Amino acid sequence: EEIKVFCPATIANVSCGFDVLGLALDSVGDEMTVRKTNEKGISITKIIGQDLPLETTKNVSGVAGLAFLEKSDYQGGFLIEINKKIKPGSGIGSSAASSAGAVWAMNELLGKPFSNLELVQFAMQGEKLASDVAHADNVAPAIYGGFTLVRSYAPLDIVPIPTPSELFATVIHPQIEIKTSDSRKILKTNITLEKGIQQWGNVGGLIAGLFKTDYELIGRSLQDHIVEPIRSILIPGFDAIKTNAIEAGALGCGISGSGPSIFALSKGRDIAERVAESMKATYSSIGLPFDIHVSKV
Ligand code: HSE
Repeated sequence: EEIKVFCPATIANVSCGFDVLGLALDSVGDEMTVRKTNEKGISITKIIGQDLPLETTKNVSGVAGLAFLEKSDYQGGFLIEINKKIKPGSGIGSSAASSAGAVWAMNELLGKPFSNLELVQFAMQGEKLASDVAHADNVAPAIYGGFTLVRSYAPLDIVPIPTPSELFATVIHPQIEIKTSDSRKILKTNITLEKGIQQWGNVGGLIAGLFKTDYELIGRSLQDHIVEPIRSILIPGFDAIKTNAIEAGALGCGISGSGPSIFALSKGRDIAERVAESMKATYSSIGLPFDIHVSKV
């Protein structure tokens, strides 16, 4: 018995929601094939596309899978094959796609013994291996689809948020690698009350905009006064990409997860494509190689 699954790339933080907001991309991601086997445990049999460890305890899908097996009555094991299209360290949830994809597929093969919330908990173990912190803002949208809010970590409380039908993402990935663990180390652990007020106003505004399908409110709320000013220093051309994306019609633009990818959200595919052209022109003019995607959210 086997299943082949699409493991979506995800944009975490979505500007104002550090560690709590995330969204899944409809058409960017990995493929994974998971098979049942009588042999106990998890074996990663093949990884195409990227040079990543096959050893179960060093691979995020292996670690997430082991967390799943530990809570399961199932006596057998699973074989995992990954066609890895998302580059590690790109900021669009590479580790989350593998962690979430593995446990989601395993749950399907066993007739869904676990809830989505439990699957997120298992997948978070993969994130812990990848970034030292079991953050859920990539794995939650990878499992639930669409937009999600991590309302609380302890206890874990995930709230799926509706996605307006015309919302498209443009994501540009400059060909540099930034490790999430490194880009977390540079953050300050304290914020001022003033910054807190701005940030929770925007988180509330973004959630309200998504529920009301109010694209202008979504746009006004895509701001980050806490993390972006620090992390953007690591991303070449960030300010120019952002200014030009907004000028091209994007609702908002920011760092995808821990970077270096930069995302913009737009109303409609045409504007998202126009934003892609502006991003391409910006990076071409500074001579930086990149990948770029436009996807429905
Ligand atoms: N919220 C995490 C961070 C996401 O920004 O560090 C990492 O993809």
